This record gives sequence, C-alpha cells and structure tokens, in this order.
Amino acid sequence: MDITVATGDFRQFETDAILIPVLEDDIHNELLLAADAALEGRMQSFLNLGDFKGKPKTTSVLYTDGGITAPRVILVGLGMYAELNAEKVRQVSGHTARMARDMGLKSIAVPLPPETQDDWTQAAVEASLLSLYEFKQHKTQKEDDDGESKSLDSLTILVGSDIEKNSIERLVTRGETIANGTILARNLSNQPSNHLTPTLLAEKAEKVAETTGLSCTIFDKATLEEKGFRTLLAVSQGSAEEPRFIILEYTPEGDAQDTVALVGKGITFDTGGISLKSGKGMDEMKHDMSGAAAVLGAMQVIGNLKPDVRVIGIVAASENMPGSTAIKPGDVVTSYGGKTIEIMNTDAEGRLILADALGWTAQYEPNGVVDLATLTGAVITCLGHIAAGAMGTDDALMERIKKAAEKTHERVWELPLWDDYDEGVKSKVADVQNIGDGTAGTLAGAAFLKKFAEGYPWVHLDIAGTAWGMKGSTYIPEGATGYGVRLLVQLVEDW
Ligand code: BES
Ligand code: MN
Ligand code: ZN
Repeated sequence: MDITVATGDFRQFETDAILIPVLEDDIHNELLLAADAALEGRMQSFLNLGDFKGKPKTTSVLYTDGGITAPRVILVGLGMYAELNAEKVRQVSGHTARMARDMGLKSIAVPLPPETQDDWTQAAVEASLLSLYEFKQHKTQKEDDDGESKSLDSLTILVGSDIEKNSIERLVTRGETIANGTILARNLSNQPSNHLTPTLLAEKAEKVAETTGLSCTIFDKATLEEKGFRTLLAVSQGSAEEPRFIILEYTPEGDAQDTVALVGKGITFDTGGISLKSGKGMDEMKHDMSGAAAVLGAMQVIGNLKPDVRVIGIVAASENMPGSTAIKPGDVVTSYGGKTIEIMNTDAEGRLILADALGWTAQYEPNGVVDLATLTGAVITCLGHIAAGAMGTDDALMERIKKAAEKTHERVWELPLWDDYDEGVKSKVADVQNIGDGTAGTLAGAAFLKKFAEGYPWVHLDIAGTAWGMKGSTYIPEGATGYGVRLLVQLVEDW
C-alpha cells in the first residue's frame, strides 16, 4: 500500500472512501460538521440514530450520494480522548485498514484531525501497513477461496497546509521504513527452513547491507574454524548445512559515538538434535531464527534512518540437526572466549551459539548489548505470548529497554537474574553446563548466557513467546510477528 500526503478539502477529494476519526467524547467534531454541511444534514441525522458512538475499533459506512466527491464516508471510532495513546491508534488503524481491504476498497483518504500527535501519526502509518501483511510466497494461487484478490492500494493523509504536508511526510517515511523492517523480519521468520538455510540468511544480510550502506562481514565454516567459534560449529556439526556468522555495522558520521550491539539467535531449524523434540508442533521451529530476523530488520531500519549511535548487528546462524556427526549429551566444547561447556541437552542449542556470539561482541567495547533469542518454552509458560522475558546485568540498559518497549508496545517483563540461578548451570566436568536443574528454565538460560556476556552492559530478551503465535492484535498477523524490530529501533533512536 502506498501512503501519500496531500493538501485540500476532503469533501472534494477523489477516493473510494473518506475516513473520519471520531472520539467518543467529541462525536460532533469539526470534520463531521464539515461533512454534515456538504451532506445537507444527513450526517447529523445518522448520528442522531445513535448507531455509531465512537467506540474504539467500531466503524460505520455512510454512502454520500453526491454531496461529497467520494462515494463513501467511514466513521472510525477512537474511544475516549483521555484513553487515547499510540497503541490505541495502532489497534484502530489496523482494524480499519483490514476492514477497508475486506470491503474491496482500493483507495482511502483520511483528513488529519487537528489534535493529532506526531507519534500517533507514525503509529497509524506503521499499523496500517503491518495489518495488511500476508505471507503468500508459496501459494501458487494468490486469491482467497472465493476467488477474490483484495488489496488496498493507497492511503492518502489530507492536511491543511504545505508546511504541515512536509512534516507529516517525514513521519510517513519513518513509519514506512520501520514497517518495512518489521515486514523483513516477518518474512525471514515465516520462511520454511528449506528456503532459508544459514547460508541463505547470510545472503539476505548482505542484501540488507548493500541497499542501506551498512558494512557486512560473513564468516563461513572455514573462517569460523580458524577463529575458534567452536560452540557454533559444534551445534551445526549434525547438519548438512554450514553455519554462518553475520556482522553488520552502522557507523554514524562525525565524532566517536556510543556503540550498541544487537545479537540474534539464528537457528534456521531446531529439531532438538540428538535430544530430539517430539513431532507435535515441530514445524514451528522454522521460526527459531526470529531473534536474528529482528536484528536484521532493525539493522535495515537503522541503515535507512541513520541515528547518532554506532550499531553492530550480530547473528549466529545454524541448523540444529541430529545427524550422525551431531553433538551428543555429555560432550564438552570450548567456547570462543575459552570457557568449557558440558552439553547436557542438545536441544538447549540457542545458548550455545550465543555463547560464541556474545564472546565475539566484547571486542567492539559496546556501551550496551541486547540479545534476542527464542530461547525457552518456559518463557511462554511464564508470560504467554504477551511479553518477552527480559534479564540482564545492567539496570540503566534495562530501563532504556523498558522505555522503548512502552513506546512501541513490544512488551518486556523483567525477570530476576539473581546470582542464585548460577548454581543450576554448574557442571561436574566443565566450567558450565547448558541446562539448569529443571526449575526456572528461562532464568537458567539467562544464567548460562551471563557467563559469556562479560565486559559490557547486557540485557537478554527471551522472545520465544512473542516471536510468533500472538493473538488479538489488529496489526499483528498469525505466524511471525516481527517482534523486536520496533523496540530495537526505538532503543537506538532514544540512546
Ligand atoms: N527453540 C527452543 C525454544 C522454544 C520452544 C521456542 C518452544 C518456542 C517454542 C529452544 O532451543 C529449546 O529447545 N529450549 C529448550 C531448553 C531445554 C532443553 C533446557 C526448551 O525450552 O524446552
Ligand atoms: Mn532447542
Ligand atoms: Zn532453539
């Protein structure tokens, strides 16, 4: 869908439908009065019926029959002004865009209400685009069952002046850029593993770098061997697919800046390895690279928006397969940083590849490191598909992440990474083991990672619940959510 900004009176604008946002506590707003005048009182008569009350996520369609150029006016409820916020705007925008598409409309236009805040405009742009997302790449027939292929092609935001047009256009571009990064993450995450191997993921990263001017370095298997990424190599050794390690770098112009590193788990398929998972729902493990997808999506946005902070995007990519050369429970491997790990369960593979990635990250002397990983089923038991579990070693970084999460509604909930949890990951034969004592699985994962996230402020986001399977949002579809892209971009922009 194209989003454009135009000046002019909505009553003379040519489009399939004019959308008029209406607050529950301001049901006779300026725009409605203007429409009423053109419609010779018919708007007022309709409102008097009381069918439409301005409740959030409710709409009413009026057929204009002449008085207004567009054949339809759609009233869009926003709820009470005091309760309006960016997330409400997202939910309403997502609902409305989907409704317009499902009605078969091709173009819609919305006059910008006078009291609109900038973050609401950006939120509306993002949510409208994100709500229409579908993953249809592998369907040979793109139409619905009823033979129709519905697509909403254009949204025009109508403003009063050229000055306003310029500032709203800037917000539209930002919103589009962020939505596109989220869509990249969704596409990567939804891609089946036979279409997205570690090698192909690295090629996607190279493409992101090329189009946005980031620098990109890929380590192949031989390079990983040479540099001592033994834990990443260990996880991949049961697979016919080679691992890849991806480094994207964004450096702002001007003086030395702070450095933030974003680290993603990129398991393109997780069978569990020799500690094989059961068959039920195993197909979902194509999404086990959602952390990597969020990092690549965020790096694409960062390359485009060019914030004032240096950002390093790091992805460790591998399959986790039970081949005859696979790692076995009890095996001991040495991580990039030199610590030894007893692999007690080959299905706790994400933390293994991240051990090398977090060790590698120290050389950038980052002022903050955030890793995103679909690490534990336990975080779903704990927080459902509502929030990511957040655990870390630095309160200031945690606060920044909570703020960014609040703004973007990509929620996080802090879990206590007390030293007490270190006990569970002690090994009898090596420095550390890759599972805990069977309790607090999410914290066992984080306690393990903490051993490798040394020398910098660090927060780990366990996104196993939020990366896919969210329900009830109007702008987040079934399947991959793209969780983390908007949060990471906000974090970097507010740094
Ligand atoms: N990728 C999984 C975590 C996961 C499970 C994500 C379900 C989304 C839905 C991870 O690699 C894993 O297998 N974790 C194990 C850890 C256990 C062996 C300590 C788990 O959560 O069961
Ligand atoms: Mn696993
Ligand atoms: Zn996994």
